[in-house]
Amino acid sequence: MISKETIDQIFQTARVEEVIGDFVQLKKSGSNYKGLSPFTQEKSPSFMVSPAKQIWKDFSSGKGGSVVSFIMEHEQFTYPEALRWLAKRYNIEIEEDFERTDEQIAEAKVRENQYTITEFANKWFQQQLLDSEEGRTIGYAYFKERGLNKKSIETFNLGYSPKQWDAFTAHALEKGYSYEALNEVGLTVGSKDKPVDRFRERVMFPIQSFSGRTLGFGARILGNNKKTAKYLNSPENQIYHKSKILYGIFQAKQAILKEDECYLVEGYTDVISMHQSGVENVVASSGTALTAEQIRLVKRLTDNLTLVFDSDPAGIRASFRGIDLILEQELNVRVVVLPKGEDPDSFARKHKDSELKDYFKENSTDFIRFKVGVLKEDAGTDPVKNSEMIQSVINSIALIPNLIQRELYIREASSILNMREELLFNQLAIKLSEQEKDSKRKKLLPKESPLQVSTPEKESAVNPFVVLEDELLKLMIRYGNEEIMIPYPEDQTKFYKSTVSEEIIWQLENDEVHFTIPHYQDMFLEIKRGLENKEYRMGEFFVRHENKELSQLASGFIFEKYKLSSWEKQGIIVPTGKDNLGKRTLEVIYNYKRLLLDSIIKNTSKQLKEDITEKERQKLIKKVMRLTALKQYLDGLLNRSV
Ligand code: CTP
Ligand code: MN
Repeated sequence: MISKETIDQIFQTARVEEVIGDFVQLKKSGSNYKGLSPFTQEKSPSFMVSPAKQIWKDFSSGKGGSVVSFIMEHEQFTYPEALRWLAKRYNIEIEEDFERTDEQIAEAKVRENQYTITEFANKWFQQQLLDSEEGRTIGYAYFKERGLNKKSIETFNLGYSPKQWDAFTAHALEKGYSYEALNEVGLTVGSKDKPVDRFRERVMFPIQSFSGRTLGFGARILGNNKKTAKYLNSPENQIYHKSKILYGIFQAKQAILKEDECYLVEGYTDVISMHQSGVENVVASSGTALTAEQIRLVKRLTDNLTLVFDSDPAGIRASFRGIDLILEQELNVRVVVLPKGEDPDSFARKHKDSELKDYFKENSTDFIRFKVGVLKEDAGTDPVKNSEMIQSVINSIALIPNLIQRELYIREASSILNMREELLFNQLAIKLSEQEKDSKRKKLLPKESPLQVSTPEKESAVNPFVVLEDELLKLMIRYGNEEIMIPYPEDQTKFYKSTVSEEIIWQLENDEVHFTIPHYQDMFLEIKRGLENKEYRMGEFFVRHENKELSQLASGFIFEKYKLSSWEKQGIIVPTGKDNLGKRTLEVIYNYKRLLLDSIIKNTSKQLKEDITEKERQKLIKKVMRLTALKQYLDGLLNRSV
């Protein structure tokens, strides 16, 4: 874990306007900066940055937060990833705060070391390609011949490793890297007395992580010599794990977000050619079978994954397992098959930009249609094979965790296979119960639950609870520690001292309050927990919060004066600033309690209509009367305070 001191230092050093300025063109507007939202396609700027408060708010997408949450949002990083990114940008050394065992410290050292060497090698291979005679005439010429331009070569950091047996190793040893370290990361092979380069006379494809760190290399021979392996790759080591990376994800990230779709191809050159031809949302599994980890990398960016295949049927058969894996991870799978004789690389070189995009749009089919199409070809009219085909489709559908989606796919399968839905649903039920038995037998670990994401914008338009909960949180976020004077309910001429947050938490404590939207409730509970330790958790606390939703919510509350408050939208004028803070706080509390009472009264009245005993009826009536009296009492207080 990154230590609290480091996190504080990052927040103190990183300037939100500077960091966002790297990605968005900002113009001064009063005491703020303004720009076009990087998250939508807006024409007039509604993206605001406040240097004074160190927050940002995008009014077109509703997103907002701190400098860290901006990086999380823009690069789709986790909280620690974003912190590390900022630490690197501002040259801040990261301190880890838990006591690590010697073993862990040693391991972290090895990893850091491997990163350093790999990056060093990466720079050197690029230099060789561009600046050495051999690199230019052999390596660069090879890329040119394959139709790659300078920009692509730079974007993908392509390089060249010379013929000489130990060109790289000799250089690295001279720079002070040890034989052991070079050997461990896999760049140097052979004995210590006679070390040699693993990659010789090859063009280099560095493999980068999600956040752009170099992890390893793919290295291709220059011609089509059948005797040596076409590609040599870095061996597995502490930083390079083949099954956890996707080639090109760093370069494709923004495009995947923008298009909300990701294409998956097989090879390095497929990725680069497609990118060069204008389809940038593309990654490669690098010739290995797709893994769940790789799919989860894509899922950080989009739910829509499209597999691109050559028309070669061998690859297509092999794809069925990949499709099932993708369905299990709750992504939508589509498939594009290229014309005969083409692979993505050759096809992309023949078709530019819109042509290529159009082909993919027009020729992608969903997985059921694809699977049926392929299987039908072998099945012909053979009834046994046909029933196997149907079973195979059902088996795939059974893997989809989402019930509604499952149902939609069954509908579709029914129309494609020309079979009654009930029949397919029956088959599905059988398969599902088999799976359940299986999982019980194997005692599988529970699946990790997907993050629940709610959509407050939609709910607040209709739900008065949300409107008031919004108002309560806003008061506590902006003015929580402000002192207010509150009249005693029974004697309005006498006052007691309180604070905004104390009053709200205290008054709502006895009612069973549970905020409607999960992250509203989270914020409410965090404020409450803070108060228990005499700590006021307000804007800054939440803007810096690890949970992106809380950070976003808080920055929205702070930036509130730019948007119409939800009350004003409903024709209620709410005073802003600190005027009448006590009165406003009470008003919101009373209104909220009134609403709670209302809903309990409604529920109780509903029960009265049910078939109940006379005794129960009497009890319920009494309850309604008591609640109504309470409501009138609140109305009285509200009238007095208005
Ligand atoms: N691959 C590999 N080792 C090999 C062959 C292939 O690691 N000996 C991986 C590489 O990641 C390669 C991918 O499988 O990119 C797809 O293989 P292939 O289609 O043969 O390679 P291309 O990338 O298309 O290479 P090229 O077009 O240069 O022949
Ligand atoms: Mn190829």
